Amino acid sequence: MNTQTDTLGNIVIVDDQPNNLRVLSGILQQAGYKVRPALDGEIALKSIKSTPPDLILLDIRMPGVDGYEVCRQLKSNEQTREIPVIFISALQDMEDKLAAFQAGGVDYVSKPFQMEEVLARVQAHLRLYRLQRDLQVIVDERTQALRATLESLRESQQRYSSVLEETIQAISMTIEKRDPYTAGHQWRVSLMAVEIAREMDIAPTCIEGLRLGAMVHDIGKIYVPVDILTRPGRLSDIEFALIKTHAQVGADIMQPVHFPWPVADMILQHHERMDGSGYPLGLKGDDILLEARVIAVADVLEAMASHRPYRPALGLEQGLAEIRRGAGAGIYDAEVSAACLRLFDERGYTLPKVGLNLDR
Ligand SMILES: [Fe+2]
Repeated sequence: MNTQTDTLGNIVIVDDQPNNLRVLSGILQQAGYKVRPALDGEIALKSIKSTPPDLILLDIRMPGVDGYEVCRQLKSNEQTREIPVIFISALQDMEDKLAAFQAGGVDYVSKPFQMEEVLARVQAHLRLYRLQRDLQVIVDERTQALRATLESLRESQQRYSSVLEETIQAISMTIEKRDPYTAGHQWRVSLMAVEIAREMDIAPTCIEGLRLGAMVHDIGKIYVPVDILTRPGRLSDIEFALIKTHAQVGADIMQPVHFPWPVADMILQHHERMDGSGYPLGLKGDDILLEARVIAVADVLEAMASHRPYRPALGLEQGLAEIRRGAGAGIYDAEVSAACLRLFDERGYTLPKVGLNLDR
């Protein structure tokens, strides 16, 4: 690209007739352009490649490399591709003119030419070429600025995601620190829920919300006295009713937070059952959020497989049998249950061990 600014522009003229070269050069030099003449195609190509001009006036019929070939070679070279080529030729057939445009020319001037016409076309194409170059510079600058903005946006999004994750983990720990018997329960339910969701081909963005929701699904237990949560033996009806409030309380705690996922509803509905036998609202079937149906299955399985204050761990087999029975009885979502059973029966999945025996 030409960087000289002391002329109106640098032009290479290619013609095998010295007389034509002289006339054209004279006209353009007088108009203020810097001109480099070339007597054949080969010389022209060398000259153009070593110092690319702003515009090329190109004869067609020349011995050796003709004008079409010169133009084709220039257009196939990234360095010279954009330079406008105006053909100047005595060839008058429409086919010759078409071939000139097909080779990559931007214009065609017939010989004998009018001085004013050549100057007007040269001026017009130079202006257009400069506008395109300026536009390209602006586009490159904007693209670069946009890339930088995107990059910093990505960084701040990553920071935001990790702060969100850490906050959720901290909230999750709050309840588990009070109730060491269920320590790690939410974490393990979250890991299992994610695996079930993946097995079901649920969208990754949805799984991300499910993962966070499951991590705090029992946060409402903060409202339940610790001795009720940890006491071995049977609970009274009133005590059990108090424990059941944890779904609503958890949803109330998370409701004011504007997550991009329905986290509060996941918490509210994780004890709902497909046949309407769950709590707190007695919702049925599809009225229950899919994420809540996934958490429900992972929750039941994890709770049965792990130790509880009122009983020792029942084990994985009993847990899976309960999912099978509950799915058959229309209590747990059939698809969720099937995905969960596939994980353990066919995919070799095992219960997550994280958080087990924590604080004991
Ligand atoms: Fe729960």
